[in-house]
Amino acid sequence: MTEASFRVVVFDAYGTLFDVYSIGALAEQLYPGHGAALSVLWRDKQIEYTRLISLSDPNPKGSRHYQSFWDLTRASLRYATARLGLAHTHANEDALMAQYAQLSAFPENLGVLQALRQRGVATAILSNGSPEMLQSAVHSAGMGKLLDAVLSVDSVRQFKTTPTSYQLVQDHFGFAPAEVLFVSSNAWDALGATWFGFTTLWVNRQGLPPEAIGPAPHHTGRDLSEVLKVMG
Ligand code: LAC
Repeated sequence: MTEASFRVVVFDAYGTLFDVYSIGALAEQLYPGHGAALSVLWRDKQIEYTRLISLSDPNPKGSRHYQSFWDLTRASLRYATARLGLAHTHANEDALMAQYAQLSAFPENLGVLQALRQRGVATAILSNGSPEMLQSAVHSAGMGKLLDAVLSVDSVRQFKTTPTSYQLVQDHFGFAPAEVLFVSSNAWDALGATWFGFTTLWVNRQGLPPEAIGPAPHHTGRDLSEVLKVMG
């Protein structure tokens, strides 16, 4: 596969296209001194719940235990506040949840999406996010006209990293997995996508160590502009 032959660039949503910094900042405002701990635990629990559901009932037609990512995000926030011994209020919960619907794009992202448009490369999101929260974030970040598809795992009632969830890209576009450049800032997502057969770019915005298992992503960079370098 030469780099120029990618047919579509598929992006993870939260932390990759959408800047989730505002969530941590609001958490700090609402719970001074605990914002960082709360946002990390919240995110970890949110992803843990997705795995718990997909592992507990790996039915190719979808899990009986499935709950939308929106509902899991709310549930994991409740868990994280309880775990840290913080006061739970509906007002704080609603304010933090509302941030998910009004995220901005990382500064370089719109330029990268526009450059891909100009080159005639298809672009898409594949996210655990439920369709409504994704549409709202896409709109809020000004990406509506820059994406060919917004694919949510909600249609298969499974979460990444199940093969069925990554398969949504092929079902939509019909390209061979290696013709897909899959871009995520989550190392675990990049690994799942590599195992699935996509060509992968891990956007390591936070300077984290790579996963200690599995193959390395095909490419690694510090921000989304790396996509254009990989495309050549
Ligand atoms: C997503 C999360 C995992 O968008 O970032 O799927």
